[in-house]
Amino acid sequence: MSNKSVPVKPVRAPLAELIEQEIPSAPQRRVFLKQSAALAGTAVGAGMAGQAAAGALEIPASMTTPGRPLGAYGQPAAELDKLQRGILKPYGDLAPGAGVTMTPLEELDGMITPNGLHFERHHNGIPDIKAAEHRLVIHGLVERNLSFSMEALLRYPRVSRICFIECSGNSFFNTFAEPMQMSCGMLNGLVSCTEWTGVSLRLLLEEAGLKPEANWLLAEGADAAGMSRSVPLAKALDDAILALFQNGEPIRPEQGYPVRLLLPGWEGNMNVKWLRRLKITQGPTHTRDETSKYTDMLTDGSAEQFTFPMAVKSVITRPSQGQTLSAPGFYEISGIAWSGEGKIDRVEVSTDNGATWTDATLVEPVLDKALTRFRLPWEWDGQATQLMSRAHDSTGAVQPLRAAWKSRYHAVNIHHYNAIQIWAINATGEVSNVYA
Ligand code: CO
Repeated sequence: MSNKSVPVKPVRAPLAELIEQEIPSAPQRRVFLKQSAALAGTAVGAGMAGQAAAGALEIPASMTTPGRPLGAYGQPAAELDKLQRGILKPYGDLAPGAGVTMTPLEELDGMITPNGLHFERHHNGIPDIKAAEHRLVIHGLVERNLSFSMEALLRYPRVSRICFIECSGNSFFNTFAEPMQMSCGMLNGLVSCTEWTGVSLRLLLEEAGLKPEANWLLAEGADAAGMSRSVPLAKALDDAILALFQNGEPIRPEQGYPVRLLLPGWEGNMNVKWLRRLKITQGPTHTRDETSKYTDMLTDGSAEQFTFPMAVKSVITRPSQGQTLSAPGFYEISGIAWSGEGKIDRVEVSTDNGATWTDATLVEPVLDKALTRFRLPWEWDGQATQLMSRAHDSTGAVQPLRAAWKSRYHAVNIHHYNAIQIWAINATGEVSNVYA
C-alpha cells in the first residue's frame, strides 16, 4: 500500500458549463417486443424529440432510435481515431514485417494496456501458427526431453500476474541529439502492461529434470527471424511464465500466440514470442539477438551484454507533446512509472522547471514490475514552464536526468534509456518535448 498519497485539492472553479434553464426529464418508455421496430422507432420517438426542443438538455437522437445490433467482439468508439498504435517500419517495404508498433500512452489511463494497443516489436513479421500444430520442446541438459502440445499445456495449473513489458530500445528517439516533436506514445510507447496467465516455467523444468551443470537456457521463437535469447536459469526458476492468456483472452498472434515466454521486468526482447524450444545449457548461447543486437555501447566503445532488468522510469502522459492547454486553471497531471527491479516507491513531479518537486499520488494497486499510475492536481497560471516526473523504486534507484544517462553510454546507444522526460509548456499552452 502506498502511504505517499497527497489529498486531492478541490477544483476552484467548475470546469463545466452552468445550466440555468429547467431540465425536463425524458419520458420512460417500455419496449413491447410484439411491436414492430419501425413503430417503436418513429411513432414514440417523434414525441420525445418534440419535448426535447424546449429544454437545455436535449433528448439526443440515440434515445429515439434503436442502436446498432449486437456484435461478437467489441471495438472502441469509431470516432476515437487517435486510439491507434504508431507504426515504425525502418526498412519500409524491403522488410514490412520488421519494426515496431507503439502504444498511444497519451490516449490511455489506468495501469492496464488494452490487448489491441500493446506495443509490438517484430524482426520478421507475425507468424500464422495453428495451436493444434504447435509444439514446445524442452531439451538439452535435462533428464528427459519433453514435447508439449498446446492441449497438454492448457491442462497444467495456471498462474497470473500483471506486469509491464518494455522494449530495451524504448524512448530511443530521446537518445538523439535534438528533441523530436512526437507524441508521448511515439517517444515512449514501447512499454505496455497487461495481465498474463499461463504455466509456471519452473513446474515444467522440474518435470524435465535439470542436470547439475545446467545454469542457462536458450529460448527460441517460431518466427521467420528465429528470435532467440539466452536466459539465466535462476530467472527461469524464479518468476518466468509460459503465457497463454493476456488480459483474459488467448494471447493474440502479434503477442506470441499460442505461447510466449514471460520474464517479468526484463527487456522485452527476451520475452520470446511463438515459443517453440527451450534448450537447457551451461552458459549462454550468444545468439545474434544478444551479440550484434540488444547490447549497450558504452562511452569507451565497449559494450555491455546481458543487461536484463529495465531500470526505474516514468513519464507524464497528460499533458504531453502535441496537446494544448486551452486556458489557465485546473489540470490533472498524470503518468506512468515502472521498474524492472521492483515496485514503484515514489514519483515526484515538478511543474516549475525542476526548481521544486511534489510527491504525486500513486494509484493502487502498486505492483511489483507493473506500470503504476500517478496523479497530481495542478493549477496552471498561464506562464511558460516545464513539467517532469522522477520515479524512485523499492531498491532505492532513482530515475536520472538525461545528461547523467548520456554520460554513461556511447552516443550511438539507444538501449535502456530511462532518463526524465521533460515537457515544455509555452504561454499559449502548447506542449513540446525538450531536453534540460
Ligand atoms: Co539489455
